[in-house]
Amino acid sequence: MITLLVLAGLAAVVSAADTPSIGNAGFPSPWASGGTGWDDAYAKAKAFVRGLTLVEKVNLTTGTGWEADRCIGMTGSIPRLGFRAFCLQDGPLGIRYTDHNSAFPAGINVAATFSRGLMRRRGEAMGEEFRGKGIDIQLGPVAGPLGRVPEGGRNWEGFGPDPYLTGIAMAETIEGIQSRGVIACAKHYILNEQEHYRGRIDVRIDDKTMHELYLWPFADAVRAGVGSVMCSYNKINGTYACENEWTTNYLLKNELSFQGFVMSDWGAQHSTLGSALGGLDMAMPGDGGAAPYGALWGGALTEAVLKGDVPQWRVDDMAIRIMAAYFKVNTGNFSSRPEVTFSAWTKKSIGPLHPSSNKTFTVVNEFVDVQSNHGALIREIGAKSVVLLKNENRALPLKMPQSIAVIGEDAQDTPGGPNACAERGCIKGTVAMGYGSGTAEFPYLVSPATALKLQATSDNTVFINTTSNWDLDAAKAAAKGASVAIVFATANAGENFIVLDGNAGDRNNMSLWDNGDELIRAVASVNPNTVVVLHTAGPVIIDYAVQHPNITAILWAGFPGQESGNGLIDVLYGNTNPQGRTPFTWGKSEKDYGAELLFNSSNPVAPSQTFDEGIFIDYRAFDKASIEPTYPFGFGLSYTTFDYLDLHIQVQNVSASYKAMSGATAPAPLYGVVNKTAAANTAPEGFEKIIPYVYPWLIANSSTGGSGGFGPAAINGSAQPLLPAGGAPGGNSGLFDVVYTVSATIKNTGGVAGTEIPQLYVQLGGDENPFSVLRGFDEIVLKPGEAKTVTFGLTRRDVSNWNSTSQNWEISTKEKFVFIGSSVAAVRLHATLPPPQGMSWSF
Ligand SMILES: *[C@@H]1O[C@H](CO)[C@@H](O)[C@H](O)[C@H]1NC(C)=O
Ligand SMILES: *[C@@H]1O[C@H](CO)[C@@H](O)[C@H](O)[C@H]1NC(C)=O
Ligand SMILES: *[C@@H]1O[C@H](CO)[C@@H](O)[C@H](O)[C@H]1NC(C)=O
Ligand SMILES: *[C@@H]1O[C@H](CO)[C@@H](O)[C@H](O)[C@H]1NC(C)=O
Ligand SMILES: *[C@@H]1O[C@H](CO)[C@@H](O)[C@H](O)[C@H]1NC(C)=O
Ligand SMILES: *[C@@H]1O[C@H](CO)[C@@H](O)[C@H](O)[C@H]1NC(C)=O
Ligand SMILES: *[C@@H]1O[C@H](CO)[C@@H](O)[C@H](O)[C@H]1NC(C)=O
Ligand SMILES: *[C@@H]1O[C@H](CO)[C@@H](O)[C@H](O)[C@H]1NC(C)=O
Ligand SMILES: *[C@@H]1O[C@H](CO)[C@@H](O)[C@H](O)[C@H]1NC(C)=O
Ligand SMILES: *[C@@H]1O[C@H](CO)[C@@H](O)[C@H](O)[C@H]1NC(C)=O
Ligand SMILES: *[C@@H]1O[C@H](CO)[C@@H](O)[C@H](O)[C@H]1NC(C)=O
Ligand SMILES: *[C@@H]1O[C@H](CO)[C@@H](O)[C@H](O)[C@H]1NC(C)=O
Repeated sequence: MITLLVLAGLAAVVSAADTPSIGNAGFPSPWASGGTGWDDAYAKAKAFVRGLTLVEKVNLTTGTGWEADRCIGMTGSIPRLGFRAFCLQDGPLGIRYTDHNSAFPAGINVAATFSRGLMRRRGEAMGEEFRGKGIDIQLGPVAGPLGRVPEGGRNWEGFGPDPYLTGIAMAETIEGIQSRGVIACAKHYILNEQEHYRGRIDVRIDDKTMHELYLWPFADAVRAGVGSVMCSYNKINGTYACENEWTTNYLLKNELSFQGFVMSDWGAQHSTLGSALGGLDMAMPGDGGAAPYGALWGGALTEAVLKGDVPQWRVDDMAIRIMAAYFKVNTGNFSSRPEVTFSAWTKKSIGPLHPSSNKTFTVVNEFVDVQSNHGALIREIGAKSVVLLKNENRALPLKMPQSIAVIGEDAQDTPGGPNACAERGCIKGTVAMGYGSGTAEFPYLVSPATALKLQATSDNTVFINTTSNWDLDAAKAAAKGASVAIVFATANAGENFIVLDGNAGDRNNMSLWDNGDELIRAVASVNPNTVVVLHTAGPVIIDYAVQHPNITAILWAGFPGQESGNGLIDVLYGNTNPQGRTPFTWGKSEKDYGAELLFNSSNPVAPSQTFDEGIFIDYRAFDKASIEPTYPFGFGLSYTTFDYLDLHIQVQNVSASYKAMSGATAPAPLYGVVNKTAAANTAPEGFEKIIPYVYPWLIANSSTGGSGGFGPAAINGSAQPLLPAGGAPGGNSGLFDVVYTVSATIKNTGGVAGTEIPQLYVQLGGDENPFSVLRGFDEIVLKPGEAKTVTFGLTRRDVSNWNSTSQNWEISTKEKFVFIGSSVAAVRLHATLPPPQGMSWSF
């Protein structure tokens, strides 16, 4: 039963945001100081960094150059103390460029499970694999792009356009990865919402939208203790992300009290001084500056410190932050730290240790098998992330049908093997991950056709199979007369360095690729039991299939990773009752989404874009414009049915206003004394340099690299004011006070066991707020007839808005409502939220 509620009326206009211009007035990079979850690591980092020379500190901050060492990014080392270099490696769904590793389901799939447990276990399993190869830092998970526009090329690497769902997925993934001794990296910070022009686009955004939408999941990442954050390629309000004092110094390091380190995306650093003072702590991959250093940091940073352009405290702080992240996740001593056992640059056993100079041939790949039993988890996530969108006439689950016709290229093995195309940059065979740097090599890939054929064989089902998406006659011939015709289609997306079928990362449109829509129509024209399976990066326009009487079922299977076919048959045959819920809205047109991707700028040299839709993206935009979606956010069918009963709200004894953080930091601390002599800062006599390679030593008195746009306050090392919303990792601890507990009973009213995903939405009131926003979800496993109570805690942040004037979160006096339902549109229980202690609603 779907009830559409119009309680306080749909928001009509966004009030013009009157944000103060705090842009690049100049904020010094806050110095790390420990705090919740960091004290121990910080103490160890202080002791370690105090004993380092300037060039040793600089070595920790700078990559040695693209392909200069074995990992995708590698810093310098500290040979004097036996501390090997940091190894950084992609990506968010498994290890890129190695062997004997797993290819996990993409972020968007684990988001679709709405299962905190699976998010956590996926993080743990990935962490084990990275650790097992000797990697220190996993370059994931992703909260940017968040998914402002559905065509965004890298949306599938993350967890979808809802900041609350993404925030929880970030936290669970990060805690999982880091529990296995690997530093996670929350990326790409921030507003990297499209691939077109990503290296130079200037994104203009107001302060409220920043806080309530895009910064929100990064706050959760910081609260979860993430060790590193990657700044993105784009500019924000005129300044590159990797030298942006507002986003890095003010928001991330001060307001969110981030204690780890900020690394650049590969090549996203644009200056020596501006990046150092704008809060960057590690330059990746490290090379890319003018002669003599060939780098913006390395020796150029050493020189800037010796000249006094970059204060010593700033380099000390970089080193402290990097080492604190290291000590936070590594509980053992240096000798228990695993060695790097692979080369990202060759699949052979023997190769160069320094590929960019082709030097030092040795064993570089030990082929360590790190897969363990992760295939079972991958299959489980694959099955539980399938979203059953349509299921008429009990088409599913299948029960030993007489015959099945499997149709479409997307069901098939890839000719040449699943890794035949570098970074998955092709459209051959089934799609189980997108393309670009967010990929991993498949150890194997179970295609849907293979899994279905096995199942058919054991059921004595006749198996019919056609592969071409273009030979519609063959498709119709195969489908005609089959008990069920299962037709597969895809819409891929990825990173802009690969252009696939004219799509430069971002999708050019929201239809299916490779004739997929025509293929589905052809099959449905001859078979009255047509089942559509979609492996797409995000929503596609499938309204025709929803309306079509011969299409009995539609499933979105996303990018499920190596166990694709197995996870899918678990759902098709009912071994797994689908629990996937769509983590994005399905619209009838691109226009429905409100925001638009900038494909063709009138100023392609310096493109700029204002996110003037504010917080109204995805379901918030549909609600605001009263557009009915094809499938709403959070929607997904089950093979059973559920009842929702007994809504209870308890106001907690927490006051409506909370204590703003006040006071100031200590002045910037120094760790050790810089020895300014040339001898202490140049390469030791007789040191044989690898060329090209980035070193921390002075080469000449010839500072390069440009200053960037830092303000005068950026070099101020005196005590700095704390911010009202700050004071603890992720923000003021009062933001996480539970203000309400809300409970309800969920009952399985059908004939089979199943999992319901009850979702809690809040209406914050007023035109400036969306009709409702997600603020809770749970995974409730129920036998037939069984009922369980689900309880949600609503925190202060959950019911607050950002006030740009006070620079703080506030619970407004607007009357508020709570909805519990099975999607954003299917409200099953609702009530007014009573005002919190000491407050009343104004009407
Ligand atoms: C960024 O630009 C937007 C739009 O021009 C403006 O509203 C906002 O105040 C600016 N933010 C900062 C921090 O300067
Ligand atoms: C910096 O790191 C490089 C590469 O690991 C190493 O060769 C060099 O000795 C290190 N320099 C210092 C001062 O430790
Ligand atoms: C380092 O840790 C390993 C493994 O826990 C242990 O065997 C070794 O004795 C430790 N070494 C030092 C120097 O403490
Ligand atoms: C690298 O060195 C190997 C072995 O010395 C040689 O066969 C190969 O041609 C070299 N490659 C390049 C790109 O210099
Ligand atoms: C499906 O048909 C193609 C083309 O004839 C064939 O290569 C493939 O092996 C078949 N798949 C299965 C699972 O039988
Ligand atoms: C949308 O893009 C896909 C992939 O490039 C292409 O196959 C399809 O024809 C396009 N659809 C339309 C309507 O242009
Ligand atoms: C549905 O399939 C039947 C064949 O069973 C066909 O005759 C009919 O035209 C199809 N309906 C549509 C709307 O394509
Ligand atoms: C952008 O420009 C290209 C080349 O002129 C054109 O093919 C494409 O259709 C344009 N895209 C949009 C969305 O306007
Ligand atoms: C609420 O909290 C206040 C302050 O902590 C306390 O004095 C008061 O007794 C509490 N009231 C209830 C009903 O628990
Ligand atoms: C500074 O470094 C030089 C060269 O390594 C060394 O001779 C000198 O003793 C150092 N000075 C201090 C104060 O440590
Ligand atoms: C830098 O210049 C000063 C003064 O000319 C000189 O004493 C010093 O040795 C130079 N340092 C290097 C690394 O060339
Ligand atoms: C925002 O904060 C300012 C300054 O404290 C206050 O005057 C204003 O009323 C607040 N705005 C709202 C909407 O609460």
